[in-house]
This record gives sequence, structure tokens and C-alpha cells, in this order.
Amino acid sequence: MKIIRTQKDLQLWRENLPKNISLGFVPTMGALHRGHLSLIKRAQEENDKVIVSIFVNPTQFTQKEDLEKYPRKEEQDIDLIKKYSPIDALYLPSVDEVYPQDKLETTDENEIDLQGLDRILEGKSRPGHFAGVAQVVSYFFDLIQPTCAYFGEKDFQQVAVIRRLIEYKNYPIQLRVCPIIRETNGLAMSSRNERLSSNARQEAGWIYELLIRVKEMIESGISIPEIHSEVLSVCKNHPTFTLDYFIIVDDKTLEEVHDINIENSYQICIAVWVENVRLIDTLHIPKK
Ligand code: PAF
Repeated sequence: MKIIRTQKDLQLWRENLPKNISLGFVPTMGALHRGHLSLIKRAQEENDKVIVSIFVNPTQFTQKEDLEKYPRKEEQDIDLIKKYSPIDALYLPSVDEVYPQDKLETTDENEIDLQGLDRILEGKSRPGHFAGVAQVVSYFFDLIQPTCAYFGEKDFQQVAVIRRLIEYKNYPIQLRVCPIIRETNGLAMSSRNERLSSNARQEAGWIYELLIRVKEMIESGISIPEIHSEVLSVCKNHPTFTLDYFIIVDDKTLEEVHDINIENSYQICIAVWVENVRLIDTLHIPKK
């Protein structure tokens, strides 16, 4: 596995790859867990070569404190990849490498028209987050020119943003969305879970249980206002958790729905705060 730290070396590596091979790309922010490994595995199954990036991208953090506390485990990540999923290359750039001359702001020059996708749901709670994601992913796509790029369904809105980025920039890249990997209690795997106390991490299994309950309620025709009051009452049973938002959206437009039509497909989305950590989860409701 080649470890690449500079843009120049990455370009060289890319240029030297044989033409006509497929290249899978898995972008990450490190602190790798089974969720990331499942993306890497899938990329390996579907491509001749695979490259993974590890970069904690400052422009997508709304709170400085969140950026500072984001786990960084370079050595452990390298060992994990070598042991479980040896890949062809690992790109580990520094902040200066990605954003030379302190260009840490999203500027008009690199701004990507996300058609409002960045201002709803997660974007409301995290202004600037998706502009930062689009900025860094577009930097990676330009350099790496992958055939397929792999993202987890957990970040459902991020997937919509990347789909839009690919369309906007006309990238010849196939977007592959991989299922959420969960801890044994149902908590969606996330690098942020490490910041939870073991009690909170254990208790957080209720979030997924709630999503399943909501799915059942939708399927049995219970109205959205009734579902919302059930969600609020379940949240009350977990006073150390604070609901940021709960919403059922059309899975294509990401617009909130107020009535369910079984011929459409939806996405249930939730975000909660616990111990200063924000957890998100999501569940898809396919059409009948
Ligand atoms: O999902 C993530 O880990 C990040 O948002 C990504 C896609 C690596 C961009 O920094």
C-alpha cells in the first residue's frame, strides 16, 4: 500500500496507473471503523485499484471545538487498513496541502451551486457544512479521477450533495451508496461514537429502535402528526439526549412530507445531541 502525502505525488501516482482500469475511491476523515471498512471492501470488489483518503476537512466543521475534538488516529488507521483491507494507495494530505495560502474559506471561486440542498435538514443546524464537503470532495475528485466513489447511507444528505456535485461538475464518476453498519445495540457506526461515555453509547441504541418504530407506524397508516408526538414522548424517556430534529422527507427532493402516499419512497432522519456529541441516523422507507 502506497502512502501518499502530497498533491504532486498523488498526481504522479494517478498518471502512472494503466489506462482503462477502474479506480475506486473511498473518502474518509479517519478514525476508521467497520462502516469505513465495508466501503473499502465494496470498492475492492468492484474495481481494479482502490485509493482511500484520510483528511479531517476543516471547512466542513461549523464549530471549532468539534474540529479540535474530532478523533485523529493515523497510525491505528494505517494498521487497520493494512490488516483488514489492503488497498493500493492511501492519501493522507496535510491541511496546507489541500488548502494552500490558508484558503480555508469556501470562496465564490470554488463555491458549488448545491441548489439549496445545503440549507435544509443538517444544513440548518450546520451552516456551511455541505459547502465544505462539496469543496473537499471536488478537490479529491479532480485529482483522483475515480471510476466509482463510495459513501455511506448514514450521511443521507451528504449523498444527495455529492450526487448534485457530480451532476454540476459533470464528473464521469459513479456514486455508490453503501448500507449503514451498526453497533450491536443498533447505534449507527460513526467516528464520533468514540467521544461518548460507555453508558451513553449503550443507551443510544434507542435511536435506531425509534426509527424502526416510526417505519412500522408509517407502514400501518399512522398520521405524521401522531408519529411526531410519539417521537417526542420517546425522547422524553431519554432526558440526557436532546432532539435536534426529526423529520420524514421525500427521498428524492429531501422535502418534508406531511402526508404519506404508499406509492412514494421516503427517508426518516433524526439528529440528537448527547454529551456534546451530535448523532445522526436515518432509515429508508421504500415504496410499496
Ligand atoms: O463523510 C465524511 O467522512 C466526510 O464528509 C468526507 C466525505 C470524507 C468529506 O470530508
